[in-house]
Amino acid sequence: MKKSFDKGFITPHPVFIIATYDENGIPDAMNAAWCGQIAGNKLAISLSAHRTTTNIKTNQAFTVSFATKETVEACDYVGIVSADKEPDKMAKSGFTVTKSDKVNAPVIDQLPVAIECKVIELQEEFGETRVVAEVVGMKADESVLTDNKVDLEKLHPIMFDTVALCYREIGANVGGAWTAGKKLM
Ligand SMILES: Cc1cc2nc3c(=O)[nH]c(=O)nc-3n(C[C@H](O)[C@H](O)[C@H](O)COP(=O)(O)O)c2cc1C
Repeated sequence: MKKSFDKGFITPHPVFIIATYDENGIPDAMNAAWCGQIAGNKLAISLSAHRTTTNIKTNQAFTVSFATKETVEACDYVGIVSADKEPDKMAKSGFTVTKSDKVNAPVIDQLPVAIECKVIELQEEFGETRVVAEVVGMKADESVLTDNKVDLEKLHPIMFDTVALCYREIGANVGGAWTAGKKLM
């Protein structure tokens, strides 16, 4: 028997680290859970008023990296401290950056995979800025690739458990997509 609730939510979320430059080329990074792919090469992120939000409006570009088990402290840190209040945020996080050659945004050196995004539209709704962006490229460390593809068993991306408020590892492969169901055909 299912219990009925008046509220619902989606969990878990992937943990995305958004990296931007400010108007002077100073890098920043923040943790974002409310981000999702909305088409083959497009994503949408819901942002409150943050330094990152201002930076995205300024440069119309950003990168999104996948948070990893090995970098969980830094990834959480950039989600709880704002560059508006802590000028040394990036140094304190331990993250260093390299400028993307495709967009005016930093790629975080310590996170193995970054997707490079250009803003298509900024929608102001529900008191938030919804950023709709096109993915124009990706950088991936050779160390997390198998047969030239990103290998999650090497990347160790983490998930955000919005109920227990913690980060979790991804588990085992339990069935092939578009193939597991064929047994029932
Ligand atoms: C797990 C986690 C998820 C978050 N998800 C979002 C999000 O989806 N959207 C948002 O606006 N802020 C989100 N935040 C808050 C920002 O990361 C945080 O306010 C950050 O300090 C902003 O940094 P900045 O002002 O330097 O850009 C999240 C924080 C955490 C810890």
